[in-house]
Amino acid sequence: MPTHTSGHETGADAAGTWRLGDRTVRRMGFGSMRLTADPDPAAAIRVLRRAVELGVDHIDTAAFYVSPGGTLGVGTGPARYATELIRTALSPYPAELVIATKVGFAADGDGDLSEANGPAQLRAQVEENLRRLGRDHLDLVNLRIVRRPGRDSVAEAFGALAELRDAGKIRQLGLSNVRVDHLDEAQQIAPVVCVQNSYSLDHNRTDDELVRVCGERGIAYVPFFSLAGSRRESGANQDHSDAVHAVARAHRATPQQIRLAWALHQGPHVLAIPGTGNVDHLAANIAAGAIRLTATELATLG
Ligand SMILES: NC(=O)c1ccc[n+]([C@@H]2O[C@H](COP(=O)([O-])OP(=O)(O)OC[C@H]3O[C@@H](n4cnc5c(N)ncnc54)[C@H](OP(=O)(O)O)[C@@H]3O)[C@@H](O)[C@H]2O)c1
Repeated sequence: MPTHTSGHETGADAAGTWRLGDRTVRRMGFGSMRLTADPDPAAAIRVLRRAVELGVDHIDTAAFYVSPGGTLGVGTGPARYATELIRTALSPYPAELVIATKVGFAADGDGDLSEANGPAQLRAQVEENLRRLGRDHLDLVNLRIVRRPGRDSVAEAFGALAELRDAGKIRQLGLSNVRVDHLDEAQQIAPVVCVQNSYSLDHNRTDDELVRVCGERGIAYVPFFSLAGSRRESGANQDHSDAVHAVARAHRATPQQIRLAWALHQGPHVLAIPGTGNVDHLAANIAAGAIRLTATELATLG
């Protein structure tokens, strides 16, 4: 894998690295959820290969990222799985590549998701990820939960994943969509290397505290929807504040790049996984890892 820039384009190393459990990854990664939206698998394969050419070594996925219907509500024809697109594009996998997947949900035939976090369901999902990715172990598995105040213990589900870790099927564990109390509970059971939550400069800022706690504990905080924000699955937020526009102008950058740069400035343990099916957006997102914001700019944005 390249360690510097590719041609004239900024590489993923510009954002620096983070020690993710027993692996080191570049802080600018890639989210694969949107790859199933394009009916042409070749387009997704081009984006994945370009990401790796540009030095991305941390890719987020899930076996339940599947067309048609489903999370993004698009697509016809045979189902396209993000995990299988990753396998087609990148297998045999570069040794440095960390593929993070998540469990706790299952997709039905239409790609619609439902919660599925019983121990047997989690074991089946791990096996499905192994099969679709074509691996004999998973680098990193996040337990994705649904929050239900008062009755959302992660103990049983995380315990089931810890057993799979002990059995060698999983190397490292993380959590997704959690609060600090979930993190406390899981850390009693097994090491947690990352927390993946929805977070951006104008969305879910109640997580500021969790970002800080993760930093103190040496745990990566991986924001999703760092571009989409409150628009979630509908796509990138186009509603940028005057501050975002002003900082973007000052850096000759796009508002989306400033959103990503802001996320990376929330701590050395924050890892970005922007999602795109567009190679130009991919290059722009990776280049955002080179943007250095001043304290004044951060204060204005924050
Ligand atoms: N743990 C969880 O529960 C969870 C939930 C959702 C997602 N995730 C993960 O997080 C990753 C990121 O989330 P996401 O992909 O939904 O949202 P995102 O990265 O916040 O935003 C993606 C959206 O922004 C657009 N975009 C990307 N780069 C752009 C650029 N440079 N300029 C303009 N528009 C740009 C994309 O459209 P184009 O394709 O046109 O670029 C897409 O509509 C996902 O891929 C997935 O791996 C995790």
